[in-house]
Amino acid sequence: MQQRALLLSALVAVARAQQAGTQTSENKPSLTWQKCTASGCTDQSGSVGIDANWRWVHSTDGTTNCYTGNEWDADLCPDDETCATNCALDGADYSGTYGVEADGDSLSLTFKTGSNVGSRLFLMEDDSTYQMFKLLNQEFTFDVDVSALPCGLNGALYFVSMDADGGLSKYENNKAGAKYGTGYCDSQCPRDLKFINGQGNVDGWEPSDNDANAGVGGHGSCCAEMDIWEANKISTAEAGQTMCDGDSCGGTYSSTRYAGTCDPDGCDFNPYRMGNESFYGPGKIVDTSSKMTVVTQFITSDNTATGTLSEIKRIYVQDGKVIANSASDVSGVSGNSITSDFCTAQKKAFGDEDVFAKYNGMSGMGEGLEQGMVLVMSLWDDHNSNMLWLDSTYPTDATASDPGVARGTCGADSGKPTDVESASADAKVVFSNIKVGAIGSTYSS
Ligand SMILES: *[C@@H]1O[C@H](CO)[C@@H](O)[C@H](O)[C@H]1NC(C)=O
Repeated sequence: MQQRALLLSALVAVARAQQAGTQTSENKPSLTWQKCTASGCTDQSGSVGIDANWRWVHSTDGTTNCYTGNEWDADLCPDDETCATNCALDGADYSGTYGVEADGDSLSLTFKTGSNVGSRLFLMEDDSTYQMFKLLNQEFTFDVDVSALPCGLNGALYFVSMDADGGLSKYENNKAGAKYGTGYCDSQCPRDLKFINGQGNVDGWEPSDNDANAGVGGHGSCCAEMDIWEANKISTAEAGQTMCDGDSCGGTYSSTRYAGTCDPDGCDFNPYRMGNESFYGPGKIVDTSSKMTVVTQFITSDNTATGTLSEIKRIYVQDGKVIANSASDVSGVSGNSITSDFCTAQKKAFGDEDVFAKYNGMSGMGEGLEQGMVLVMSLWDDHNSNMLWLDSTYPTDATASDPGVARGTCGADSGKPTDVESASADAKVVFSNIKVGAIGSTYSS
């Protein structure tokens, strides 16, 4: 059904679809990062591009909005195919519209700018190509300042299996490509995307009842996701690895991008949730009132880039001090890193269904990690659960003293988008000093 729809639209809308607009010139902020080996690090000149979903979508032949607030224009977008034919994604004013500022190796994302809320940026290799990272047997390191990120916000850094060109070559209807931030996918199979595979996501679109800028369409875009960092100044969850099941993952390396049998939960390590309440936070061992370095190591079974992923290890560096991740203090769960055993024990201790193992957890990530993944940096609030899963007691009706329920010190009433968007409009996250390379090559004390 899906295949047929795609084929048909490819025939009908040959050269005109989801085009690129020219009202605002697209000038991506430059961002320097580094590749490292045992003998040192070398500068790479990259840039960041904002996701298509944040961009102005307007008529290809003028400036009429195709999408306003959380609704599609019925004339320009009566259905998926026609919408892609009639509408263009435009260039972005990064700092003026989206509060995105880059300076050297540093990227600052401000939460609210005018009516814009949050942002999602991709690291680019060049103006129309996402930078691909192959992380097996590698170490990924960055500095982050979360001191201006209160309860309810999430400054996230993660990897997803997107096409390097944003789907430009694969989907004839996509004329915008990575230059305009197309092709996003993740393990939640997001259905709030305005365009997927060069088509509008108009059919079945339901405007959100609590988000003035978003809605949910008939299609989702699924792919493997490797979370390095989801955090604010109160709590952090690291390296929650989420898995899909082969072709049904959808995404770059599958025949069925829409399928969506991802493991949406993955397996993560939040020190507070794992029983250490004094490890991460303002004034704590990893002190979130100032900048810190976050190191993540992707260890393979045979210590080569072709081995299977066996362990994801976290180390912090702050004020010249190397700080090992805290160890689990939860009964029945041991260790301070993510391994298959840790994930299985954690799911059991917390009474969660072990979807992670079902999708072959650690070792199953293989293809995505080996093929390369795109680096995403974002700042967001949570219209579904007020970010309580990260920084408070969750589920809200559970007993806080039960294993896995307490995740941070934020109140049960905190994190409501209407509150944070007015009270914390100036909140921001700063990512800087991104480095990737051989294990042990990207940090020192
Ligand atoms: C929390 O982690 C730190 C650093 O690993 C450790 O020194 C401390 O004993 C831990 N506290 C608890 C309650 O586990």
